[in-house]
Amino acid sequence: MGYRSTYDGWKADPEGFWMGLADAIDWKRKPTQALFADKAPIYEWFSDGLVNTCWNAVDRHVAAGRGAQTAIIHDSPITGTKHKITYAELLDRVARLAGALRARGVGKGDRVIIYMPMVPEALEAMLACARIGAIHSVVFGGFAANELAVRIDDAQPKAIIAASCGLEPGRIVNYKPLVDAAIEQARHKVDFTLILQREHAPSKLIAGRDFDWHEAQADVEPVDCVAVEGNHPAYILYTSGTTGAPKGVVRATAGHLVALNWSMKAVYNVEAGDVFWAASDVGWVVGHSYICYAPLIAGCTTIVFEGKPVGTPDAGTFWRVIAEHGVKSFFTAPTALRAIKREDREGAFIKAQDLSGLKALFLAGERADPDTIEWAKAHLGIPVIDHWWQTETGWAIAANPLGIEELPVKIGSPSVPMPGYDVRVLDEGGHPVKAGTLGAIAVKLPLPPGTLPTLWNAEDRFRKSYLNHFPGYYETGDAGYVDEDGYLYIMARTDDVINVAGHRLSTGAMEEVLASHPDVAECAVIGVADQLKGQMPVGFLCLNKGAARDHADVVAECVKLVRDRIGPVAAFKLACVVDRLPKTRSGKILRATMVKIADGEDYKMPATIDDPAILDEIRVALAGIGYPTS
Ligand code: COA
Ligand code: AMP
Repeated sequence: MGYRSTYDGWKADPEGFWMGLADAIDWKRKPTQALFADKAPIYEWFSDGLVNTCWNAVDRHVAAGRGAQTAIIHDSPITGTKHKITYAELLDRVARLAGALRARGVGKGDRVIIYMPMVPEALEAMLACARIGAIHSVVFGGFAANELAVRIDDAQPKAIIAASCGLEPGRIVNYKPLVDAAIEQARHKVDFTLILQREHAPSKLIAGRDFDWHEAQADVEPVDCVAVEGNHPAYILYTSGTTGAPKGVVRATAGHLVALNWSMKAVYNVEAGDVFWAASDVGWVVGHSYICYAPLIAGCTTIVFEGKPVGTPDAGTFWRVIAEHGVKSFFTAPTALRAIKREDREGAFIKAQDLSGLKALFLAGERADPDTIEWAKAHLGIPVIDHWWQTETGWAIAANPLGIEELPVKIGSPSVPMPGYDVRVLDEGGHPVKAGTLGAIAVKLPLPPGTLPTLWNAEDRFRKSYLNHFPGYYETGDAGYVDEDGYLYIMARTDDVINVAGHRLSTGAMEEVLASHPDVAECAVIGVADQLKGQMPVGFLCLNKGAARDHADVVAECVKLVRDRIGPVAAFKLACVVDRLPKTRSGKILRATMVKIADGEDYKMPATIDDPAILDEIRVALAGIGYPTS
């Protein structure tokens, strides 16, 4: 069956389509139906089934006689180590860790925050939670203590699982002091922490509260999988919204299993026994879906890579990993490829490796620029597939489904909607627009299995953020168009979210931090185009009257403030002091016009601008920090 007949088949009989795919999952009790629409527009999938994610990701492969197959390869060019964990070993490690959690009172429905670098133990922690029905919330290591505290207060976890440190090139990131500070700062108090001591920087444990990862497992019995209802939350993953308060995206158990399992063959064209690698981080949705869960659910070998595309030790690292471990399908962010291309335009590192096993390269997380796609295609000689999705959806909304049919690639487009997604482009009034016309991209409800049913403890915010603007649709927050052949083009965000190196960040959150500086009266943060990272945040600061401060000092303090409060991942390094911000007569800051000036693009003078002369001041301030760049 080709793409068109698969998609049309889903549309004609969605219930039959998803129930059919549910057969590929091991259930404790099979669901009687796929969609549960009784609380529409809040939808659930497979709610009356009973199932366990860890069983499907680990135990069932051992039960099927594939215990000796490698489940996880850890490859760390930063520490210079590599090791492999078989499915049988993984089962033992996860069952013991789950035992340690249970022995300390963690059970079904309890939340556990995981704050770990790219080590296999991060996946084991996720799977151990899934094994006992605990709900994990992984926090990316590049976030600061304050962001961790915000998540502790929202998720109210019983425990935090962390490593003593993470390793960035040339820098040890001590996680434990960040965990301590976050616990101190948070109103909610956790019962205990479990700390993986890494030899590079072991940390001090507080007696009675902090337990050593290994010691905690010494005397405990391994535990079996606890079957949970299909709609039981598997995890919460916080993502950036318009304000400083991150949104807790909930992932329900059964839909996650069914959709991810299907996507491995349909989208990525891999099967049990194949090696699949997503070069991301467990802290992001790509890491949840395609480093941890999907490859393991499908019985593949997954790679946990602790390194960077360049500098660990060079721009050939990715290709070395692919050749050495026999990767068949590879997934990364366009930023990573741009970083490699910048250092190896001629592809010498690519030529140096035998990459004959690599069949496809997938890109997502940000817009893939044509030059980067062309470069990769020319040097690798395999399909380079852009696909589009979000933390909220957990798997591809649009892709070129290689395992169903390799469709013609149109550069600049992540191709076509996947079954389950009825994608529409709408005008401001919610009416579908013609092919080729730019509009807000929305998905007709219900969203498919595996996507978010709601936000953690914030159903109102869920409705406001995604459902209310276009009744009957899920609003993606992306703008774009569909061409005559049904190919999607994703052009920009419709909100204040920016995308820096494939990392989703909120300019609103950065503005909240800047506004807390005692000398800052008003501020704006915009995302300007960046050759490497796609976008970079730039801040504009208006100082309080009478703040007789050296501007460079205030800028430096503001840069530090954002790093301390949000984290290094915000990559906030550029700001300038201005007298005023350009606004409409009703007081709305003209951020889009500022972006155009910074990017050196033409713009129309906004009809509602209060004082056009301010734009000249913005131009001068931007020139002072090197924008536009060319
Ligand atoms: N823990 C602690 N700090 C982290 C971190 C982590 N897990 N990940 C990143 N950081 C830090 C970096 O060290 C850097 O700190 P610095 O300001 O002191 O240099 C900062 O956060 C910004 O990181 P990043 O934007 O990733 O830039 P970089 O300069 O470290 O690396 C690239 C540049 C292009 C190599 C890198 O951005 C990259 O590999 N991007 C791939 C994107 C990706 O995989 N995204 C996932 C979405 S699918
Ligand atoms: P995240 O939730 O961090 O995965 O970020 C999701 C956002 O990243 C989307 O809403 C898009 O704005 C952007 N994005 C992801 N993939 C693509 C893509 N293939 N092309 C363009 N933008 C993308």
